Formats: sequence, C-alpha cells, structure tokens
Amino acid sequence: MKAMQDLPVINRLLDLNNENIVSFHVPGHKNGRLYERFQYKNFIDVLHQLDTTEILGTDNLHHPEDVIKESQERASKVFGSEETFFLVNGSTSGIYSMIMAATSPGDKILIDRNCHQSVINAMILGDLVPIYIYPRIEEGQGISIGMPEEEIERQLIAHKEIKAVILTYPTYYGIAWDLKKIGEIVHKYDKILLIDEAHGAHFGLSVHLPPTALSCGADCVVQSTHKTLPSFTQSSMLHIQGNRVQREKLKSMLKIHQSSSPSYLLLSSLDFAVMLYKEQGEALMEELLRNIEGFKADIGTCSRIKVMGEEVVGENKAFALDPTRLWIAVEGVKGYDLDAILRKRFRIQMELSNEYGVLAVTTMGNNKADFDQLQRALQIISSEYMDRCIEEIDVQRYRAPKQVLTPRAAFYGKKKRILLKESIGEISGEYIIPYPPGIPLVIPGEEINEEVLNVLDQMIKGKKEILGLRDGAYQWIDVILR
Ligand SMILES: Cc1ncc(COP(=O)(O)O)c(C=O)c1O
Repeated sequence: MKAMQDLPVINRLLDLNNENIVSFHVPGHKNGRLYERFQYKNFIDVLHQLDTTEILGTDNLHHPEDVIKESQERASKVFGSEETFFLVNGSTSGIYSMIMAATSPGDKILIDRNCHQSVINAMILGDLVPIYIYPRIEEGQGISIGMPEEEIERQLIAHKEIKAVILTYPTYYGIAWDLKKIGEIVHKYDKILLIDEAHGAHFGLSVHLPPTALSCGADCVVQSTHKTLPSFTQSSMLHIQGNRVQREKLKSMLKIHQSSSPSYLLLSSLDFAVMLYKEQGEALMEELLRNIEGFKADIGTCSRIKVMGEEVVGENKAFALDPTRLWIAVEGVKGYDLDAILRKRFRIQMELSNEYGVLAVTTMGNNKADFDQLQRALQIISSEYMDRCIEEIDVQRYRAPKQVLTPRAAFYGKKKRILLKESIGEISGEYIIPYPPGIPLVIPGEEINEEVLNVLDQMIKGKKEILGLRDGAYQWIDVILR
C-alpha cells in the first residue's frame, strides 16, 4: 500500500511493514502471518467494515448472552477454566480486576517484586499494602530465576492478615516456578492465588512447556492472548476456577476496568485465537519446538553465542523454562548493542535487551526461515563484533530498594522535584520503569539507593526507554517532601 499524506501513524506502520522486519517480538501473530496462513485474510480485508458496537445481532461484553457468550464458553473449555472472560483493555484490566475482586481497601497482599507495573498500579487503585517476595537473581544474566517457596510460607505465617498472593508466572524470560507446590502452600493458609500468566497463554499446547497456572490450582489467571497466541494487541483473557474469588465482584470489577465500547475487532481476534489453539495449536507448537531445536543445534557450533537453557533449571534455580523464550548473548557484544545491530543491519526485531543479552519471543507465527535468518545474523555478529570482551562489561548489581510508604500513599503524597543524582536516600514519588519489560526499577514509596541509580545510568546509556520519570532528559525526579 502507498504512503498517504498527513497520516503520521499510518504512514510509519506502512513503512515498517514494507521493511519486512523479522519479528521476534509480540504480538504473537507475527505481522499477521497466522491470519494469512490459515486463510483468514478475507476477514482482515473487511476489518474496517466489521468494526461495530452493541446493535441487534451482536452481543454485549458486559452482559454476554449470544456470540460473545458462546465464544467465551468455548475458550473456557479449551483453556480448562470454569469461566473465562474476554479482555479488550489488555491484561492490565484483568490484573486490576482480579486483584481488586480478591481484596478490599486496606488489605495486605503478597507480591513478587519483579511483577509488572499493572500489579503495582492495582495497589494504588485498590488502596492495598504490598508485601514483597524477592525472586533469586541469576548473577550472570541479571534476571530472576528462582522463587523461594519457603519465603512465601514465612510471609504468610508472619502476616496472617494477607488476603491473596499474586505471582508472575512465567517471567518475561520464560522462567517458571513450582506453582503446584506454591498453590498448595497458599491454599493451606486459606489465601487466594492469583496468577499473572501474561506470557504463558500457550502453555497448554505441549508437555514440553511448563504446566498451566490453572492446572497448578490458581484461583484466577490472566493471560495475554496477544503476546504468545495470535489475537490482536490489547486482547487478553481472564480465567477463573473455584469459589475463593467472588464471581459477582469480579464481574463488577471487569465492568469498571473495561471500556463501555469493547472493540469487536479485538473480540473477533480472540475468537480466532481460541479456534486456532483448539484446531491447530498442538501441531503448530510441535513445529515451533522443532524449529527451535534446529536453531539451538546450529548455534551450538559457535562457542561465542549462548542461548539460555536447562542450566538455569534445578535446585534453588528455576523449576522449568519455557523453551519458546530465547535469551541470547554473544560474547564480547553488549546486549543493547546486539539488539540494535540485529535490527539495523539484519532487520530482525527482538523483544528486549539488557546489558547481557537479547530476548526473542517466538510463537507459532515464526517459521523456519525466521530462525535461519536469526542464526545467520548471530553468526556474522559473533565473528565481526569482538571489540569488547564480555568480562570488561561493567555489570552493575541491582539492589531492590526498600519500601517506606505504600505505593498509594506515595502516589498521593506531597512531592518536590530534585536532581536524580542527588536522590539517594529519598523516597521516590514516582515510578522508574524500563520498558520493556515494564518491571519497575523503583516503585513510588521506595527509598532510592545507589545501585538503582547505577543500573538506571547504564540503561540510559544503553538507550533503553524509561517510563515514569516525567523529565525526558532523565535528570530530575519527584520525591516525597519530608
Ligand atoms: C508480566 C506482564 N504482566 C502484565 C502485562 C500487561 O499486559 P497488557 O500489555 O496486555 O496490558 C505485561 C505486559 O507486558 C507483562 O509483561
């Protein structure tokens, strides 16, 4: 399609489309490829005509009685829930809804500190007091690999008034905890287990993937269908089982957090994703896992390229690893640089990077040619970019800041603006969120420490996008007035 005048967003998207970028990022349909492969292109061609609202013949997401009900019921069967709700405001809206359905203002809730920002936003909205568990960090990669189950139990004993536990499962990097065991602990203390399974909507498709959160006994689960399955960006699902979370309260929360004009285009894409999952999912997943095996075998011949694998699984480490997430490092090349080289020189877009490596989100939409291109590019990079030895990379350790105020108290507290470099020891009045992955480095109410500023400095130098800090030059920060 030709570029048109005065349409900045559309023209940029058309330009990107013409670049034929190889997608190792979300959304899971990979530039619409799965719609084309399964001949749903005719649906896409008339998308503009299908954009509608609640009229005679459609249905109402907030009170479904017809086609939405039918599609949600099919999803519930396919994903093994008791009831499933379609989300058109991202997993974010499902996370707000399930947390606020399971709690009341003033309640305490146990959270993994490497959660997505939406979990913390729910603390602000729902006036909740978070108690954090800190996953174990793999020093060599800078990512969380283990969830200390004994710590969960300790916190549940120490804070009897905790209402619910919310965990990220799997992490952005595909790390899974022993959720069955965690579920047993949480339920032993009669608490509610909520799971942010944003990155695990595909888990039911193969025995080679970690078990689904529902099969591990979670009470309520939110999945980003758009990330690893082929629905459109912003469309997700919330699944529920059992009666620990009140269904009526959950439905009220969904009405509050979702648009009164839900997009039928997003709903249609969820319908498609469920159908594909059911009809073709297992075969497509098998094909993907085969392609990944081939890619890893080819890469294995080059000692300078490392793909994270089973070495992170074991005692005091990860319980399981999602093989469709590829965390890749090239010796001698910083992750941030690797990310930029892949995109600028090889037209390959990865999901995210840090100082050490880059992350590929692979889905059923990726084909063998994608993996071949990635493999060739990595091999060229590993032989041409050897200017810095990995040992020389100045790795900054992150020490999670201490919580002094609740996120809500800090959010609404009186603030002053000071220079970021003079903020050590101050209580942050705002978020600092590297994006992606959207996991806050600093949460409002936390005390800023030196390690945080060092890591932030490294991210800014790596040209990583930082959300939260209102000042675009990253020089100033709002802290609590004391
Ligand atoms: C772990 C996790 N949870 C929740 C979300 C929010 O999902 P959405 O963007 O669909 O609102 C994200 C988004 O990246 C995420 O990574």
